[in-house]
Amino acid sequence: MARVLSQAVLAEIERARARYPRPQSAVLPALHAAQEEVGYLSPEALDDVAEALGLPVTEVASVATFYSMFFTEPVGRHKIRVCTNLSCYLNGCEEILDHLCRTLGVRPGETTADGRVLVEVAECLAACEEAPVLLADEDRHGHMTPAKVDALLRALDREPSATSPTGPAGDA
Ligand code: FES
Repeated sequence: MARVLSQAVLAEIERARARYPRPQSAVLPALHAAQEEVGYLSPEALDDVAEALGLPVTEVASVATFYSMFFTEPVGRHKIRVCTNLSCYLNGCEEILDHLCRTLGVRPGETTADGRVLVEVAECLAACEEAPVLLADEDRHGHMTPAKVDALLRALDREPSATSPTGPAGDA
């Protein structure tokens, strides 16, 4: 019996499970679905995923703790990840990260006091031609400037689920 995941998410996990010959192959999409619903991978969410896939919870938890995109502790409702790899470094990512952290009053790796935004550094986001790049929840934003960071944060203030004030990366 599921503890925290909705029937809709359990059905999504079941569909993922059916796509592969081995349940292990469905762990990543299942964890993504669980994290999207709960906000992080709580012990109860991991139990639900394990049960839905018919796997030991230790196996599911080991995947959750291996990948940096999964959180096993509560984090900000919005997650902003700033790429600091070479192309972004050469194109001013430090200024972007500094501006973001100063504006929100956090350091990289921290969540704002109101639980709204987690700021992290990220490895290459596969959009080097748009450097500097950040990821706001699932939306990638390229050619970032401090002004675009401000617009992004205003968008987060206005609409909890809207993280794209200027459309897809490269539109602005
Ligand atoms: S180095 Fe930043 S997106 Fe590739």
